[in-house]
Amino acid sequence: MSGKPWGGRFSGKTDKIVEAFTSSIDTDKRLYSQDIAGSIAHCRMLSKAAIITTKEAALMIKGLLKIKKDIESGKFKYSDSLEDIHMHIEARLAEDIGRVALKLHTARSRNDQIALDVRMYLREETLSIIKELAALRRVIVDLAEKHIGTIMPGYTHLQKAQPVLFAHHLMAYYEMFSRDAGRMRDCLGRINVMPLGSAALAGTTYPVDRAFTAELLGFPEVSANSMDSVASRDFIIEFIASASICMVHLSRISEELVIWSSNEFGFIGLPDAFATGSSIMPQKKNPDVPEIVRGKSGRVFGDLISMLSIMKSLPLAYNRDMQEDKRAMFDAVDTLKACIEIYIKMLPEIKIKKDAMLRASSKGFLNATDFADYLVTKGMPFRDAHSCAGKAVAFALGKGKELHELSLAEMKSFSPLFSEDVFKILTPESMINRRKSFGGTATKNVLAAIRKANRDIDREVKM
Ligand code: ARG
Repeated sequence: MSGKPWGGRFSGKTDKIVEAFTSSIDTDKRLYSQDIAGSIAHCRMLSKAAIITTKEAALMIKGLLKIKKDIESGKFKYSDSLEDIHMHIEARLAEDIGRVALKLHTARSRNDQIALDVRMYLREETLSIIKELAALRRVIVDLAEKHIGTIMPGYTHLQKAQPVLFAHHLMAYYEMFSRDAGRMRDCLGRINVMPLGSAALAGTTYPVDRAFTAELLGFPEVSANSMDSVASRDFIIEFIASASICMVHLSRISEELVIWSSNEFGFIGLPDAFATGSSIMPQKKNPDVPEIVRGKSGRVFGDLISMLSIMKSLPLAYNRDMQEDKRAMFDAVDTLKACIEIYIKMLPEIKIKKDAMLRASSKGFLNATDFADYLVTKGMPFRDAHSCAGKAVAFALGKGKELHELSLAEMKSFSPLFSEDVFKILTPESMINRRKSFGGTATKNVLAAIRKANRDIDREVKM
C-alpha cells in the first residue's frame, strides 16, 4: 500500500520527487472554500437520495465546516504527499471524524469535483470583475463630465487629425469597457453550469439528484454530458480571452497616458502618488503605473496561450495536463483585477492640462477638413475642395502660418468661394459642435452619451 487514497492497486511508494512534481496544492489551495461548499452540497444530496444517512451527512458537514475554520485561521497543514486540495480536505476529515468520512467521495470523482470548484471560483470572480468594470466605467464617465469643456487634438496614425472633446475620447474607452463587461456577462452564462455527478467521466450508478446539487449551489443549469463536464475548460479559455481583450483596452489607455504625460505632449500630469522617480536622474517622474498595466497585458495574453495550448490536443475525457489550467486562470483573474482596481483609483487623480490640450488643437492644421467642407457647402465637389485645401495647407506651411491665420485675400487666391464667414468655422469649438452626426464629438452628443452611460451603469448596479 502506498498510503494514498488511491493506493489500493499499488505496492510501491510514490517517489518524493514525483509527489512534489505532481502536487498542485500550492496552487489549488485557493479553492478550499469552493471545495468545501461543493462537498457539503454533495453530502446533502447523498443523504436526500438515501445514498448515505442523514446522520452521516450531518457528521461530515460539521467536520467540513471545522476544516474551513482551520484553513481560515491558518491552522491547517499542507503536504505534497496529499497532492491537491480535494485530498487534503478528505484526509483531514477522516482524521477528524473517523471512518464515516470515507463515504464523502461516493458517486464523485476528483474530475467532476475540480470542474465544480473551478466553475464556482470563476463565477464569483467574473461577477466581481463585472462590478469592478462598472466602477471603472463610472470613473471614466465622471471624468468626462467634469471635463466636458476640454478640447484636445484627435489623432489618426498619431498625427493630429481633427479636434475632439477630451470627454469624447474618454467615452470611447467607456464603450470598450462596457463591451468587456458584456463579454464577461456572456461567459458567465457558460461558466455557471453544474458538473458534479458526472463522476470520473461516464456518470454514476448511484441514484444521484444532480438538479438538487445544482439548486443547493445556486447553479441555474446542470451539465448535459458527463464526458464534456470533466474534459472541457473552454469556459476558462473564454474567460481569459475576454480578460485579454479587456487588457488590450487597458493597455491602450495606458499607452495614451504615457504619451500624454510626456514633456512633448504635456496634456496631463500624473499624480505623485501614482508615479515614481529615477534613482539617477533627479528630474524624472515616470508613469510606472500605466507602463506596468501595459506590460501586464502581455502576461494575460500569455495565460490565454497557455490555456489554449494545454487543451489543444487532449483526448477525452480528463487528462492530468488540465491541472495546469489553474495557474493561468488565477493569474488572469488576479492581473486583470489589479489593473482595473488601480485605474479606478488613479484616473480621478490625473491632472488635466486643458490649456495645453487646446493649444495643441489650434496648431497643426486640424481645421483642414473643415476648410474643405466649407467650400463644399458653397457648392464645390468634395474632391476639388480637398485638393484646394491641400494647396492652402502647403502655402500656409511655407508662410509659417495656420489656415485660420491666412488673410481672406490669401484664401481667395485658392478659391473665390471664400468669404468672411469662413473664420467662424475654423475654430476648435465650432469644428467640434458642428459634428452632430450620431456618435460624433459635438458637446450635445457627448453630454447625451454621458447621461445614457450613467443610466446604464445605474441599471446594472441595481441588478
Ligand atoms: N488536481 C487535479 C486537477 O487540478 C484534480 C483532478 C485530479 N484527477 C485525477 N484523476 N488525478 O486537475
